[in-house]
Amino acid sequence: LSTTELDVSAIEPGQAIKASFRKQPLFVRNLTPAEIAAADAVPVSSLRDPQSLADRTKEGKQNWLITLGVCTHLGCVPLGAGEGENRGPFGGYFCPCHGSAYDTAGRIRQGPAPTNLAVPEYEFTSDTVVVVG
Ligand code: FES
Repeated sequence: LSTTELDVSAIEPGQAIKASFRKQPLFVRNLTPAEIAAADAVPVSSLRDPQSLADRTKEGKQNWLITLGVCTHLGCVPLGAGEGENRGPFGGYFCPCHGSAYDTAGRIRQGPAPTNLAVPEYEFTSDTVVVVG
């Protein structure tokens, strides 16, 4: 299976980009300290799909949230990265198809989606280069 190499050096804190991985949208987001704090403030046990931000990011690189840009309800592309800056009521991503709202860790918080945005396999090969897949 193919991998995708991304240079993330131009993504400023607070910014998200939409890339592509195995023909699917991929969201790469550089979280601000406030967005990290917001994610960490949520009790994991209260979540529909209980995961912490640390579970969904790499150690020492918690600001880099890398997920598929595919709503886990019926597969629409949520807003909040690249095109469409509506990040929804939880500040992460918002799916306009049926109103699923994701938080700053890409976790489902409201609406019909059953699970968090999927985190693909990836690794940082330097401070600014990530290989997905
Ligand atoms: Fe996203 Fe239905 S496909 S809410």
